Amino acid sequence: MTVDGRLAGQVAYVLGGGSHGPARDGEALPMGNGRAIALRLAAEGATVVVGDIDLGRAQATVDALATPGLAVAVDACDPQSCQAAVETALDAYRHLDIVVCNVGISGREPLKAQTLSEWEYSEAVNVRSHWLTAQAALESMLARSRGAFVFVGSTAGLLSSRRSLSYEATKAAQLAVMRHIAVRYAARGIRANAVVLGVIDSPLVRREFGAEGAPARAAVVPMGREGTPEEAAAAVAFLASDDAAYVTGQSLIVDGGVSASWPSPPKG
Ligand SMILES: NC(=O)c1ccc[n+]([C@@H]2O[C@H](COP(=O)([O-])OP(=O)(O)OC[C@H]3O[C@@H](n4cnc5c(N)ncnc54)[C@H](O)[C@@H]3O)[C@@H](O)[C@H]2O)c1
Repeated sequence: MTVDGRLAGQVAYVLGGGSHGPARDGEALPMGNGRAIALRLAAEGATVVVGDIDLGRAQATVDALATPGLAVAVDACDPQSCQAAVETALDAYRHLDIVVCNVGISGREPLKAQTLSEWEYSEAVNVRSHWLTAQAALESMLARSRGAFVFVGSTAGLLSSRRSLSYEATKAAQLAVMRHIAVRYAARGIRANAVVLGVIDSPLVRREFGAEGAPARAAVVPMGREGTPEEAAAAVAFLASDDAAYVTGQSLIVDGGVSASWPSPPKG
């Protein structure tokens, strides 16, 4: 359920707003977090610019939006590209009210196997692209004393999943970037927050860990199921909106209760 018109008149940019990989049963369009966020922001009335390394994926999102939008090609690994995408959004719509830094890649290497190249790739996509994007959007937000950043984080930035050193480290650093922006610019009308996601039933998870693993993943969640990209998007829309006007510097954990639970063997 969306909040009708909550974001009317606002312009949002979603970095990593395409999606690819296996769709849910019966769905033609794979629904990742970035795509669901773009759809949700538009459903609440925002004009949405969708950035993705694959312009076709970004365009597929834009084609599904409830409001007219703009697809932009951007490579999160390339600093100039990150900045140019924001400039394209500003050229098109003159201002940005909301910036969602969603793009992220999950590594698979623990300390013993961590390679320099994979570390640098993770850092470039999961952290560097986010602060560069925020920096590129900041001046125009400061000029209007208004702006909301939402970073799409992971519980791996708070708790170790044992899987990937680079993912855990970069997701933790991403939250530090968020807090810095929040505190530094709080008095000037800028807010920054993060959603910290647990396991979401997304193409990313199905691609990397297999759809067949869903029951095992759900078993460790107190709610007994994976989250959905739409549930992640609802939390992002709240943080982006004026309903969160006094919320800044926060990490909203959206994980079905995993991080609130003490690990214990199943009953019976
Ligand atoms: N699915 C989960 O369970 C889960 C859990 C925790 C956090 N997250 C976070 O969610 C975010 C991603 O979610 P998603 O479902 O949208 O993922 P996704 O893999 O579907 O990616 C979205 C888009 O990012 C684009 N992309 C990849 N590399 C890029 C690059 N270098 N430059 C620009 N675009 C690029 C892809 O083309 C894709 O269309 C990440 O930040 C991830 O850490 C996901």
